[in-house]
Amino acid sequence: MGLDLTKPGDLTLPPGQARCPGPSTRDIIISDADNAPAALTEERYEFLGDADLPFRRYTDPKFYEKEIDRLWNRTWQWACREEHIPKVGDYVVYDVGPYSLIILRNAPDHVVAFVNSCLHRGMQLCDAGSSGHGKQFLRCPFHGFSWNLDGSLKEIPCRWDFPHVRDSDFALPQVRVELWGGFVFINMDPIAPSLNEYMEVIPDHFSNWALEDRYIAIHVEKVLPANWKMAMEAFLEAYHVLVTHSQAIRTTGDANAQYDIFGRHVSRFIHTIGFPSPHLTNPPSPEEVLSYLGGKHLLGEDGKLPAGKTPRQLLAAQYRETLSQKLEVDLANVSASELMDSIEYFLFPNMFLFPGINIPMIYRFRPLDVDHCLHEILFLTPVPASGERPPPAQKFKLGVEDSFTSVPGFDPGLAHVFDQDTENLIRQRAGARASVKGAQTLGNYQEARIRRLHMTVDEYLGIGP
Ligand code: FES
Repeated sequence: MGLDLTKPGDLTLPPGQARCPGPSTRDIIISDADNAPAALTEERYEFLGDADLPFRRYTDPKFYEKEIDRLWNRTWQWACREEHIPKVGDYVVYDVGPYSLIILRNAPDHVVAFVNSCLHRGMQLCDAGSSGHGKQFLRCPFHGFSWNLDGSLKEIPCRWDFPHVRDSDFALPQVRVELWGGFVFINMDPIAPSLNEYMEVIPDHFSNWALEDRYIAIHVEKVLPANWKMAMEAFLEAYHVLVTHSQAIRTTGDANAQYDIFGRHVSRFIHTIGFPSPHLTNPPSPEEVLSYLGGKHLLGEDGKLPAGKTPRQLLAAQYRETLSQKLEVDLANVSASELMDSIEYFLFPNMFLFPGINIPMIYRFRPLDVDHCLHEILFLTPVPASGERPPPAQKFKLGVEDSFTSVPGFDPGLAHVFDQDTENLIRQRAGARASVKGAQTLGNYQEARIRRLHMTVDEYLGIGP
């Protein structure tokens, strides 16, 4: 028989110290005995309080406006991948709330971000969300003011009519740009900390996982019917797997997931695969877990696991072989956790990074208005050992009602999972607006990353203690 996780457990523990009975994520990764990177067995949790979070934080247009005025223009956000702008003159437009930036490669090893607004009468120089090639200069489509790729003024038609304009005052305004892991990051705040400092443990942990050596194999963008924070929160915890994604609990250690708070900007969960949910009162045998994950052929002739082997070890060995061939890379020294688990880092305010091999995703969330946001999902696949980088996948766009199952190449099982998450949001937004209690109550451990998100929002907005 399994555990009864509906009982309160030890109420004498200090808040935040209670954990799901059974093996922890760290125990499971150590038992793989395959030299997983030290970053994956590090644990960093901190109790951050247990007060309710008011729903007006998601529904109040004034709160949203404060976020626009004080948060989105002061934080590091990835604007594009370097592979989107490989040649000098290539550009993409990054839009977030009312802000619009032209991300442009103006030298082989240099990227700039110009404010996408003409200094004449404010016309957008490039269409929102567009990409292209600027050749030698950027030209406004209204009256033809133009700028060189370094941002200096190139030309004003009828220059005689603008004697009051000095060329040196008419360079295109720029915001800060830094490159990391193949991503182009921007920050509109001239006094923000460096990207390296802002990213806390990420540069150190990701020294194990070179994201610059990956390419975009799938890129999806979906409109979600919820405030950007509410939408993201569904991806900051695995607590909802039991009920929302109940199809997965035979093979995923949902309540054993590990949650880490590394600082103001970075948190993480690790959700193990190949280990049954502790919620199951009749958990499957290891042989059944292996079979559910497509590894029945790895059982011995007696139908049992080979002596001394776990389902995770057997599946990892299979993944090493099949994924090495499929991706044309050497995965011989990659651990089971990196191969199989859902390892998810969050970088405030809107980036999720999954460095694993079988689950190699990047998410980005951007607000559209107080009640809607964009959710992008990228699959970042290792570049083949030959070094030949495939071109980045084109973005596939989905509306609120569209299913992920319509995305070419998207795994059908995963598409179903994302559809389940999206359907929850429609009901959650409506329920939050109907609420008499007017606030949400979070779990101390499994939902700690959500609390940290809101604490950091408050810090940027200048709210609270
Ligand atoms: Fe751009 Fe006039 S608004 S040239």
